[in-house]
Amino acid sequence: MVTSNRSRVVVVGTGSVGAAVASAIVQQGLCNELVLVNHHPEKAEGLAMDLADGSEYLGRFVTIRAGGWEDCRRADVVVVTAGPKPKPGETRMQELGAAIDIVDPILRHIRDSGFDGILIMVSNPVDVLGWFAWKRTGLPRAQVLGSGAALDTSRMKTIIGETTRLDPRLVSGYVIGEHGDSQFVPWSTVSFIGKSFAQYLEDNRSRYPGVTLAGIEEETRRRGLDIKGLRGGTSYGIAATVAGLVRMILWNERGVVSVSTLIDGEYEYGERDVFLSLPVALDGDGVGDFVDLHLSDEELARFHRSAAVVRDHCRLIAD
Ligand code: LAC
Repeated sequence: MVTSNRSRVVVVGTGSVGAAVASAIVQQGLCNELVLVNHHPEKAEGLAMDLADGSEYLGRFVTIRAGGWEDCRRADVVVVTAGPKPKPGETRMQELGAAIDIVDPILRHIRDSGFDGILIMVSNPVDVLGWFAWKRTGLPRAQVLGSGAALDTSRMKTIIGETTRLDPRLVSGYVIGEHGDSQFVPWSTVSFIGKSFAQYLEDNRSRYPGVTLAGIEEETRRRGLDIKGLRGGTSYGIAATVAGLVRMILWNERGVVSVSTLIDGEYEYGERDVFLSLPVALDGDGVGDFVDLHLSDEELARFHRSAAVVRDHCRLIAD
């Protein structure tokens, strides 16, 4: 539990995702101290200087510095963003082999530092690596999560906002499953201005020719790869998402968000020993209660398919 009013966040990896995450945290003044760790210390040093140069114009003073593994010991949150350079056309799962070589030693360092805060895995494939991080660090399940479908959920809301030309934050609902090709939207959970989004679309059919739930879902799923095709990779959407998760934890907000977490027989989900995204309460203690979504049979079948994909990849890296 985050109790002191001095809070420290460590961001591991200072590539385009790590830098954007660090910037979002600083811009939003989420913590007292931000420590940047990179295998190449000069990169962390340079980023710390660059971010600190805006201090006069920030709403809250944040101490920003480059550091090392020993800084994890007293960190409230460690965010792992390190990974291989994205290759054009490669899916998140295809990055697994290269990612594990980078992330495994990082997790050992974090474990050996005595870290006992909340670990947010961002590196892809995030569900496999979240599970691996939980195993490798030995931290309690509540203290390890992957950013997972929190970003996809925001993407789904963004697309609905763009379609309807209304504020995306009016959408309530979740994308669940793998942060990858097998993710899906259980549409029965999605509501918008006081009714189900499916009903809203039905009621306004003539205003949105060609717009379907399946189409929005597909656009949500593909958006990461589409952005990668256009600009080589994503950084700002994931950064805003991770900053939101850090805020819920450090400010003990108890948001309910779809993040990748250990599923261990909760409700009707019928899965164990796998990390997948489902809506859970998130606060200073990490991952809390699950939400029973009452999935339809068809949705449950999709959830199991997603679990099978992630589990098959976990087997490839199991010790
Ligand atoms: C994305 C990366 C974070 O979907 O997987 O943008």
